[in-house]
This record gives sequence, structure tokens and C-alpha cells, in this order.
Amino acid sequence: MTTIEKFIAGIPKAELHLHIEGTFEPELMFEIARRNHIKLNYSSVDELKAAYNFNNLQEFLDIYYSGANVLIEEQDFYDLTYSYLLRIHSQNVLHTEIFFDPQTHTSRGILFSKVISGIHRAMEEAQEKLGISSQLILSFLRHLSEKDAFKTLEEALPYRSWITAFGLDSSEKGNPPAKFERVFSKACELGFSVVAHAGEEGPPEYVWEALNLLKVSRIDHGNRSLEDPILVEELVKLQLPLTVCPLSNQKLKVVKDMTKHPLKTMLEKGMMATVNSDDPAYFGGYMNENYLAVTLALNLSKQQIAQLAKNSFASSFLDEAEKLTMIEKVDNYLVSTSGII
Ligand code: ADE
Ligand code: ZN
Repeated sequence: MTTIEKFIAGIPKAELHLHIEGTFEPELMFEIARRNHIKLNYSSVDELKAAYNFNNLQEFLDIYYSGANVLIEEQDFYDLTYSYLLRIHSQNVLHTEIFFDPQTHTSRGILFSKVISGIHRAMEEAQEKLGISSQLILSFLRHLSEKDAFKTLEEALPYRSWITAFGLDSSEKGNPPAKFERVFSKACELGFSVVAHAGEEGPPEYVWEALNLLKVSRIDHGNRSLEDPILVEELVKLQLPLTVCPLSNQKLKVVKDMTKHPLKTMLEKGMMATVNSDDPAYFGGYMNENYLAVTLALNLSKQQIAQLAKNSFASSFLDEAEKLTMIEKVDNYLVSTSGII
């Protein structure tokens, strides 16, 4: 390991933008498909991996949703979630806020209760056995209707104590945040926090809508905010977090190549940017790989890496005392590694 790899591997960090269905590693997918007697469209792990070449978000989503089709039993959702938590525990991720897409499963006849129970059980067990804390964000699929989102919100209410926030994901272009204004307003009224994917492929106007109509407390991605200087000013003023996903942006061709990634510019402008993995099984890396790719391409300093790690805790849904404890861990790490790595 190089010095910078060691520094990144050891730094305490939080993940704030992660789709649990996007952690479905091909090996586990084949195992679960076998035990559920489902035939995949690919004959081997290698053949499946070879299909992971995407020209845009939609090409990825088509493969991602078809992979999720093999998840049937509560145990499948548990295995998926526990595998992810084990992996990021080994990367010094101390806290994670996990998206799940229930409509991807309920639309196939899988009960909402099975999906959320399996995920929740793994989160509890990982807290107990690994000491990793996690929270759950229910994400509505924006290519589906407002009516479907309302129905999903209703289904979620018996499990409200397991859910921290609501989000919005899937095909962005043509599905503006405005389409979900009333559902988000209801979620806020019920006391939930809300976040939304915006400005990944969609224009800066979608980021404005997420702020002004949905009242989000974070923007997922937000890359295209940089096209609008007034929006940048607003995001800086509000210190509104952006959950940025470098390897995802590279794989989905949101950026031309990693040297053109906007993360460093975001930091230099004083925006509250964080690094996340989005769908690590599909995009070639978990948290440390994302930090490393962007650090090497943009020549980020250790101070900037530490800033990103502190931003991740500051932007989380942890309470204020927990945030301070975590940020102190990053500061202590900086002191203890100074002159060594
Ligand atoms: N669902 C999973 N990953 C996503 C992404 N990067 N953008 C929108 N929806 C998603
Ligand atoms: Zn995402």
C-alpha cells in the first residue's frame, strides 16, 4: 500500500449515499439466484461483470433492476445488507446511511415487510457485532407515479421507527422533483428528513426544485449545480451537503474522466461535499476506492481528505453530540498519523 492509500484506508469516515441493491456482488447474486431457483441472463460471474459498461444512468438502471429480481426472501435482504456492512467495516466506515428501493421489490409481489425486516436485522446485528452504526433512507422511484409513492409511504408507516428519511432516485431526466412535491410534504409533516438525487444527469433547475419544493436537507450527487453560480452561492450559504460519488460519475459518464471531476472545485468554493460509493458492486469500488480514485486524479491533499471525512459526519443524520465525537476521531487520526503516514 502506498502512503496515501494507508492514510485513506485508516481515516474514520461515514457513507451517506449508498443503494443497498447496488452492493449486490455478482458472486452473491449467483448464490441467491441458485437457492431461489431463478435463472440469470448471464451464465457466469465473469459474463455478468463484462456487462457492466454503461453509457448513461438508464443503461445502468436496467441491469441494476434486473439483478435485484433475484431477491425474494427476508434472508436475501439480510445477506445483502450484512455483506455490505462487513465490507465497509473493514474500510473504517463508522457510520452509514443506506438507501433502499422498496418499489423495486413490491412491484414484483415481494412484501414490504420482508424487504425492510431483512435489511433492519442486518443493521442491528452489525451494530452489535461490529460496532458500525447505520440508518435507513426509503427512496421513491421517480420513474413511477406520485400515487405509487404515496402507497409506498403508507406501507412504510408501520415501520416508521426503522426509517430516518425519504429519498428520490432512479431515472432523473424527465422526472423532476416537482412531481413528488406533495409526497415529500407529507413525509416532512410526519417528521421525517428528506433528501433527493438531483443534478446527476438533470439540470441545475432540478437542484433548485429539490431545495425549494421538496425541502431537502441533502442533495444526492448535485454535480451540475456548478453550472449555476447563484445556486452555488446558495448551497455554500446553507452549507447544504452534496453526497458526491466519484466512481459512479466516471462509470455513468457524468464526468469525462476523473481528472475532470468537480469535487475539488466544490471544496475550493466552500461547498459541503462528501465522498460516497452509490452502487459499489457495479462501479468498481467501495468507500476507500472512491476516496483514492478522486485523490489521485485531482491531487487532493491530506487536509482535503480529512475535510471530506469530517464533512461526512457533519452531513449525517447523527445527533449533534455524536457528530462531534466522530469529527474528533478524524482530528485525532490526523494528529496520530502526522509524520508517520
Ligand atoms: N439508483 C441507484 N443508483 C442510482 C443513481 N446513481 N442515480 C439514480 N438512481 C439510482
Ligand atoms: Zn444514488
